This record gives sequence, C-alpha cells and structure tokens, in this order.
Amino acid sequence: MRRKLAAGNWKMNGTLADLEQIEALISAHPDPSVDLLLCPPATLIHPAAAMVRDHPLTIGGQDCHAETGGAHTGDIAAAQLADAGARAVILGHSERREDHEEDSECVRAKARAAHAAGLMAVICVGESLAQREALNTLDIIGGQVSASVPDTATGENLVIAYEPIWAIGTGRIPTPDQIGEVHDFIRARLERRFGAGVGRSARLLYGGSVKPDNAATVFAVSNVDGALVGGASLSAAEFSPIIAALE
Ligand code: G3P
Repeated sequence: MRRKLAAGNWKMNGTLADLEQIEALISAHPDPSVDLLLCPPATLIHPAAAMVRDHPLTIGGQDCHAETGGAHTGDIAAAQLADAGARAVILGHSERREDHEEDSECVRAKARAAHAAGLMAVICVGESLAQREALNTLDIIGGQVSASVPDTATGENLVIAYEPIWAIGTGRIPTPDQIGEVHDFIRARLERRFGAGVGRSARLLYGGSVKPDNAATVFAVSNVDGALVGGASLSAAEFSPIIAALE
C-alpha cells in the first residue's frame, strides 16, 4: 500500500520567523500516520531540517540544477540540498515552467540529478485552462509525464503532483471526476512504462487550492495519495486540518 503524503510548498514565502509554523505543525502531529513534507525557500532548508531532526516530517527544496556544481550563479545542486538537510525536491512546478521557461526535458534532467543525490523528486504536471477547454488535458499531461520522469524513477523516489494551472491560487478546484480521470491516467501511464512495481508504488498528489474545507473530498478520489499544498501550508492552523483529513 502506498503511504499517504501531505506536502507543503511555501514558494517564495517565509523568513526565519516563520519557522514557528513548523514548530506548531510538529507539535500538532507528534506521530503522524501519513508522510509529511514541507518545502520552504532555500534560505530556510537548513534551520528547518535541524528543527525536525527528531520528527518524521521531512524538508525539501523547490528546485535544483541538473548539474552537480560549477559556474551557475544563483542555482543550487541537488547534493547541496541534501547536504542542507533536504530529502526531496519539487521539480517542474508550473511557476518554474513559466517564469524560467523550463520544459519537460529540463525537468527530467533535474529529476535525474535529484535521484543521483538521493532525493525524492516531486515532479509537477498540469494543464492550462485553455488546454482543458480545448479537450487537450490528457494529451498535455501524458506528454509532460513521459518527458519529465527519468528512467531513474523508483517507487520510493518518484512522486507526481497533478496541479492544473487554473486551480493554483485561484480557489477554483476541479471536480472529483476531473481529478480522478487525470490521476487514473497518470497511474496507467506509469504502470505501462515502469511495470506494476514502480507504477503502483509511486505516489500521485493533487495540488491547486487545497484547503481544509475541500481536502476530504479530494482525498476520497481514486489514485489520490495526498496533496501538494501551497497557500494553506503557510500556517500550521490551515495545514494541520488538511493533514488530519488525510490521516
Ligand atoms: O505547489 C502547490 C501549489 O501550486 C498549489 O498552490 O496555493 O493553490 O494551494 P495553492
């Protein structure tokens, strides 16, 4: 059975003062029955990882470079994330695909680097509203999954987050049927490519306007193994009921 995963993406939010939210989270869930992952900005990875040393909550990055080091001003190598205490990294978020023109080939190279550094890669895929309205959702998702997931994927180091771009930060959320259709499709794709072992063990998260009041509905959908939460992960008060809904 796949272990459920509640993951938070703080994006470009948070300073040292906000580490108190992590403190509150681990106090509220001293012995969680699901996996917890929080991805703060790079500046907070090391202190956050130190705070959770004796707790099952793990800390992740929000991006890494595909290379192991060198002349790449401002970038961070996967091994450097691991050295700072990260155990996972979000890759190919739609905000990075758009702001930094990352295509799926670039995401695949980064995921390979993450795997080589021992990190779990949380690879994001998702369609725009125009693509959904043109009935191209499954084509887009299929293409992104095929091209973004490297051959180094295993059941443990691969997580795919389905994040429809039109649902991110908008308060709009797909219907359970729409989420289920995409998650079932991704699951079938993974099984076809990797076989039942990896295909059935990799976890699939839904992301996009997950809040305490809709979390249970999302988690009841087939092949939804948890959520990648943005805004609501910034405060323990909002993230905690989402975790509870998954437990
Ligand atoms: O990666 C999480 C994200 O894009 C969803 O953000 O704020 O809609 O939960 P939000």
